[in-house]
Amino acid sequence: MRFDVLTLFPEMITSAAGVGITGRAQERKIIELSAWNPRDYTHDNHKTVDDRPYGGGPGMVMKYQPLHDALMVAQQAHPDPAKVVYLSPQGRLISQSLLAGASKWPRLILVAGRYEGIDERFIAGHCDEEWSIGDYVLSGGELAALVVIDAITRLLPGALGDVESALQDSHSDGLLDCPHYTRPEVINGIAVPDVLLSGNHADINRWRMKQALGKTWCKRPDLLNGKQLTAEQTALLNEFINEVGREN
Ligand code: ADE
Repeated sequence: MRFDVLTLFPEMITSAAGVGITGRAQERKIIELSAWNPRDYTHDNHKTVDDRPYGGGPGMVMKYQPLHDALMVAQQAHPDPAKVVYLSPQGRLISQSLLAGASKWPRLILVAGRYEGIDERFIAGHCDEEWSIGDYVLSGGELAALVVIDAITRLLPGALGDVESALQDSHSDGLLDCPHYTRPEVINGIAVPDVLLSGNHADINRWRMKQALGKTWCKRPDLLNGKQLTAEQTALLNEFINEVGREN
């Protein structure tokens, strides 16, 4: 999959995405990533990318023309058709399922704004979608673009060492992840649950599903609303709830 990011801070994108899973995915040619700076497509001596908002008020607005020209160059840099997504707090809240859908696209151009925002005519004329990473305001769309790139990359075949681990991630099946343990067996008097030492993989899987259901029920009950649980999952969740009830 190819990502292009329009940003006034291209080094923020390339350096952060150059390490870890996304860095390795680039080396393995699982993803391709380029950042494009609208400032490089200005025509004045000051390389102006922003201007005062019509109607007055605080802050500045990113100008249409540098963004437009940067987008045209980015689009022409590769033959695959691209979806253009603008990152902003006004956008649709992203989720694992939205990103799983996007991971099937051949190419994604992410537009990271700065200042108070970008000229509405760029959004209306050139952006297919507008996404938000949460109900809070960042200083720019770069961190949001990195969130999108990272979360999509780990869904691409071969990006993770073990294909299973993306399937086990929190949210991949609409549930939170189960707890994990590694050596030593006891820390501060707290032992690893016996079942994980048993070697019985059916029991271990059942325990993990029960913990995932229980954690989701405790911490994010909203995720269970409208979720169709299997008969076994319902039984496991009831077991979990009864056990918690007995402990308290
Ligand atoms: N830019 C600024 N805040 C943002 C947010 N919450 N999500 C996406 N892009 C943003």
